[in-house]
Amino acid sequence: MEKKVVVAVVCVAAVAGAVATAAVVKRKMKMDRRWAKAMEIVKEMQEKCGTPIGKLKQVADAMVVEMHAGLASEGGSKLKMLISYVDNLPTGYIFFDFSFRHMRSNWTRIVFAYAYVMKLICSLIDEKGLFYALDLGGTNFRVLRVQLGGKDGGLVNQEFTEVSIPPNLMIGTSDALFDYIAAELAKFISQEGQEFELPPGKQRELGFTFSFPVMQTSIASGTLVRWTKGFSIDDAVGLDVVAELTKAMKRQGLDMRVSALVNDTVGTLAGGKYSYKDVAVAVILGTGSNAAYVESAQAIPKWHGDLPKSGEMVINMEWGNFRSSHLPLTEYDHAMDNESLNPGEQIFEKLISGMYLGEIVRRVLLKMAEEAAFFGDIVPPKLKTPFILRTPDMSAMHHDTSSDLILVEKKMKDILEETYFVLYIEKGPRYPICNTSLQTRKVVVELCNIVATRGSRLAAAGILGILKKIGRDTVKDGDEQKTVIAMDGGLFEHYGEYSKCLENTVTELLGEEVSKTISIEHASDGSGLGAALLAASHSPYLEAENC
Ligand code: BGC
Repeated sequence: MEKKVVVAVVCVAAVAGAVATAAVVKRKMKMDRRWAKAMEIVKEMQEKCGTPIGKLKQVADAMVVEMHAGLASEGGSKLKMLISYVDNLPTGYIFFDFSFRHMRSNWTRIVFAYAYVMKLICSLIDEKGLFYALDLGGTNFRVLRVQLGGKDGGLVNQEFTEVSIPPNLMIGTSDALFDYIAAELAKFISQEGQEFELPPGKQRELGFTFSFPVMQTSIASGTLVRWTKGFSIDDAVGLDVVAELTKAMKRQGLDMRVSALVNDTVGTLAGGKYSYKDVAVAVILGTGSNAAYVESAQAIPKWHGDLPKSGEMVINMEWGNFRSSHLPLTEYDHAMDNESLNPGEQIFEKLISGMYLGEIVRRVLLKMAEEAAFFGDIVPPKLKTPFILRTPDMSAMHHDTSSDLILVEKKMKDILEETYFVLYIEKGPRYPICNTSLQTRKVVVELCNIVATRGSRLAAAGILGILKKIGRDTVKDGDEQKTVIAMDGGLFEHYGEYSKCLENTVTELLGEEVSKTISIEHASDGSGLGAALLAASHSPYLEAENC
C-alpha cells in the first residue's frame, strides 16, 4: 500500500515537472518570438532610414534644383526662397575684401572700389547705440537690450530676459499672442535704469526676429505665410506681423519702432558676420530647422526691384518645407505628418529637427510594444501620448555611456512607469512596475542612433546643396576663398552625437581638400544680436547722422 502511494506521488511530481518545463519552454519560445519580431521592426527601420553617400548627393542635387525654381518665381517650388531685404550684412569691425575677384568688368570693379572707399570714409556708419531685439520662434521668446560701440567699440553690452509662451497662446488669436509679447517687452523696459533713457523725440528701436515663414515687403514689414513648430493661429496668417506687433506695443503704451524684421537664420547670418568675415551660410537646427545664405542678386529672377549696391541679397530658404522623392521616409514619418498640425508641409523639418526626432522614436517603440510586447504583456498607456518622448530625453539616452545604461533605464521609467504604477494599484501585482532589461535598453539606444543619424546626415546634404548653389563645393586653382557656416539651435548645441555626425558627413560629402576651406561655427544666440545689428544698420537716425 505504502509503495503504491510513493509511486503515485512520484508520478504526479514527474507530470508536474514536465508540465512546468513545458510551460517554461513555451514561455521561452514566446519570448524569443517576440524578441525576433522586435528586432525585425528595428532592422526594417534601419534599412528604411539608410542614408548612403549616393542618396545624400541626390538629396543635395534635388535641393539645388528646388533652389533655382524657388528663386525663379513665387510659388515655383516648395522651397519659398524668401527675399530678406538684407543686402548688406553688418560688419561690426571693418573687414573689406579688396580683391573684387567676383566682379566681371573693370568698370564694375572701379565703381565698387569707389563705394568701398566711401564706406571707409563714412566709417561711422558702423552700428552704434542702444537697440532692442525680440526673438520669437519657439515655446520661449527673448527680449534683448544690446549696446553697440560702433567702429572701435564692437558689442559693448548685451542683456536679455527669456519668457515662455503659454501653450494656449500658441493656438489662440493673433491679438492675444502679440499683446502677451508686448506686455513682456514693456515690463523689460520699465525695469531698466535711467542710463537707458532716450532723448525726447527719439524712439526706441527694435529688431524683430520672427522665426516663421514671412513674405517680406521691405526690411521692416512682411506677411505671415504659415505657422510651423506647433503654432497654429489662423487669424494671423496673411497679416503683416510688424503691424500686429506695433499695434500691440501701442496698446501697452510703448513708444518703440520696428526697424528690421528678420528670420532667425538671417539674424544668425548677421550675428555670425559680426565675428567671422567669411560667413556665407547660416543654419538653424533647433525645434525647427532652416537655412539662409548670401545670394548674388543677379541670380534671383523673381526680384524685380533695383539691384542692391552690394550686388547681393540674403535669402531665407525655408528649407524645412523641402521635399523630394529621395528623402528616406518611413511609415512612422507618414503617420506623424498625417496627424500633425500641418500635414504635407515641412517634411524636411520633420526628418531633421528637434521637435520631431523624439516623437519618431516614440512611434517605433509603440509599434514594438504593440506588436512584439517589447515592454511586457501590456502596452504602457503613456507611450501612446504624442510627443511624450522629447528630443532632449532621446539625446540623454543616446549619450548614456554607463555600462548598464542607467540613464536609459531612468528615462524609460519616467516615460512608462507612472501608468504601470497606477495599473499596479488598480489591478494588483499582476502588473509589475516596469523594469527594462539591459538588452531592451541597448535597443532603445540603437533606435535613437538610427533616427538621429538619418536627421543629421540629411541636414549635411542640405548644406552641400547650398554650397553647390553658391559654387563653394569645389576649390579652384589658387583660390583661397574660405566659407564659414554659422550654426545655431538647441539641437545642434546640445545633441553632441547629432552635430558630430553632421560635421563628419559634411566632410565625407565634400572630400578632404574642399573641407579645409569650409568651417562650421557655432554662432551662439546670434539671431537676437543679428536682429539688433540689422535694426542698427537700418536705423533712420543713423542714416541721418552719418553720410
Ligand atoms: C521656420 C523657419 C525658422 C526655423 C528655425 C521653421 O519652422 O519655418 O522660419 O527659421 O523653423 O527656427
